Amino acid sequence: MLKNILSKSIAIALLSLSASVAFAGEVEVLHFWTSGGEAKSVAELKKMLEAKGDTWKDFAVAGGGGENAMTVLKSRVVSGNPPAAAQIKGPSIQEWGDEGVLTNLDSVAESEKWNDLLPGVVADAMKYKGHYVAAPVNVHRVNWMWLNPEVFKKAGAEIPKTWDELFVAADKIKAAGLTPIAHGGQPWQDATTFESIVLGTGGADFYRKAFVDLDPASLDSDTMVKAFDILRKLKSYNDKDAPGREWNMATAMLVNDKAAIQFMGDWAKGEFTAAKKEAGKDFLCLPAPGTAGMFTFNIDSFAMFELKDEKNKQAQMDLAQTIMEPSFQEVFNLNKGSIPARLNMDMSKFDTCAKDSSAEFVKSAADKTLVPSMAHGMSMFSAEQGAVFDTVTNFYNDDAMSSKDAAKALARAVKAAEAK
Ligand code: BGC
Repeated sequence: MLKNILSKSIAIALLSLSASVAFAGEVEVLHFWTSGGEAKSVAELKKMLEAKGDTWKDFAVAGGGGENAMTVLKSRVVSGNPPAAAQIKGPSIQEWGDEGVLTNLDSVAESEKWNDLLPGVVADAMKYKGHYVAAPVNVHRVNWMWLNPEVFKKAGAEIPKTWDELFVAADKIKAAGLTPIAHGGQPWQDATTFESIVLGTGGADFYRKAFVDLDPASLDSDTMVKAFDILRKLKSYNDKDAPGREWNMATAMLVNDKAAIQFMGDWAKGEFTAAKKEAGKDFLCLPAPGTAGMFTFNIDSFAMFELKDEKNKQAQMDLAQTIMEPSFQEVFNLNKGSIPARLNMDMSKFDTCAKDSSAEFVKSAADKTLVPSMAHGMSMFSAEQGAVFDTVTNFYNDDAMSSKDAAKALARAVKAAEAK
């Protein structure tokens, strides 16, 4: 009897082993998630994919914002050797679609009912000419301001809601010998701060005109001049080591009670979580001044490339399916700081910042204050985005450049990029 059961179970084990060997493939995944919180998040995807019997080949390219990763991706695709999946988002998905190198995910999307499970704005971003070519992992909110309440307390400063209140608090924090604003001087980080200022200064309609429609009169406007003025003032509250600093090192300054504020998307929360810090107690999340009720969205997704090997193609579909599973969307986003891309998820395990973000995402869509992030490649093509980055960063690093000249230069640079 026992012998029988044993031989039966061995047979079943062998059968399932041969099945997984027969179907298992490899997926090479290009991503730029290398900070503490990010690495933890992507490890969950690897674990879940491997549980399906597939092999994960990690292709991590360090560098916040993903510029380095995109350069490496281009050379791999050009040489005819694309990875199975790459962390690509927003209009870039369309640019890769135009190259004819992406694969069609409609069969997985249809059988898993993605159209019913995703908000329209997310589903649209995942499609090229009406067909799914990418799978979304999350929705990040970018217009956050992270605060260390302990540092505020030490300096006797009030938590600010407006830019003017922020400047008063920052002066006190500086006087107390602490860093008011933790920043990393890199083009994408300068642009991340700037887009929140523009949203807070001009509102959602102005933001859209400037950063979605690329309207020259909005780019070179008094509102833009005002936004550049605020950016310059904020710079005066950075410490001397800000140039070139990685964003997660800036977050670490808040984690370690060295700095009071960081303007960054909620991947920063992934760092607080990895450091076992609690939302609402050890750190606070508030919308950047003037942006309450508004939401700058940044959707991370994996676009999939056309492959030749049948097993690897199957593994690629397994990856797409895994990404949309509720268990993945939950655990990934708990670590990443973002909210699930899937609708109607149970948010009970999420912290107050994520719950706020989730509610604001829905409400801002209804109020028409939901806008795509310029700094994170959601609102314009890469050439125009590069033009905005260059202008904002030049201004940031050149105190002799006036805000008026910066606004003029911004309109000019975007126009030149469009003409190319
Ligand atoms: C990505 C995030 C990432 C952050 C820092 C953003 O553009 O969407 O997933 O954590 O850059 O690298």
